[in-house]
Amino acid sequence: IIYSTTSDTLPTILLIGPSGAGKTALVTLLERGRPTATRTSQTPHTVEVSLPVKTPVASSRFRSPNDPTWEVTKKLLIQDTPGHGKLRHYAMDSISKPQSLQGIIFVVDAADLSSEAREGARQAAEYLHDVLLQLQKRATNSKSSRAPKEMPVLIAANKLDLFTALPAPLVKSTLESEITKLRKSLSAGLLDSGVGAKDLDVTEEHDWLGEVGDGPFEFSQLQEFNVQVKILAGNVTGVDGSDVKQWWNWIGSIL
Ligand code: GTP
Ligand code: MG
Repeated sequence: IIYSTTSDTLPTILLIGPSGAGKTALVTLLERGRPTATRTSQTPHTVEVSLPVKTPVASSRFRSPNDPTWEVTKKLLIQDTPGHGKLRHYAMDSISKPQSLQGIIFVVDAADLSSEAREGARQAAEYLHDVLLQLQKRATNSKSSRAPKEMPVLIAANKLDLFTALPAPLVKSTLESEITKLRKSLSAGLLDSGVGAKDLDVTEEHDWLGEVGDGPFEFSQLQEFNVQVKILAGNVTGVDGSDVKQWWNWIGSIL
């Protein structure tokens, strides 16, 4: 896709998360107002979207300096990435070159987290761990004494229309406890060849996510590295339509 040069200055939000979570469906909904049938993504894809008119925005970026009640159209770019384990380098590359990156939305299938086998939860947590560790390293590797600019991360608990979906607080605690387990096995060298995880050297303190020690992992431990994690539920499709209002409001709050 070719963009006009004005698009280069638009804030960008990166969409990441496991395959099948609903990233591309969400992009089509945000772009066109209704979700469209999707196929699994193989390449990143950026679309330009406009915030719904009533969405509150935090900054004055979109307001006329002369008239605070007059608002220009709030546009932003959303970059969809493939969730397949072998194609995550696209997302990881975008995180490591965050020039215009304003925030990250990590989409999870909240119904996939509830299974007793915990496989969906484990896989989502592994990807999320790698993403958050990359963000943490931005801060710890920073040559300058100034901390990197704040990076807001939204965990979008999707598919809440499904009755097996976990509510947002349970999505949070499930992912936190899976990351706690993952950190332990990584430090014990038990993990053989998980995607991304094999490159980690957890004997080095900087490859340990969050607070060092035996305590449980909590997303709040990343505030120290200027990473603000929030968990909000919604659904892109469903018999009663979509509900993405909380996600729009989050986007507005970080612009
Ligand atoms: P990759 O491209 O492989 O990384 O997956 P993706 O995250 O882009 O998933 P995609 O958007 O293709 O959606 C996967 C499936 O989930 C599709 O069949 C969607 O229709 C379905 N889906 C997405 N959102 C929802 C939702 O809120 N509720 C329900 N029930 N299904 C959803
Ligand atoms: Mg996709």
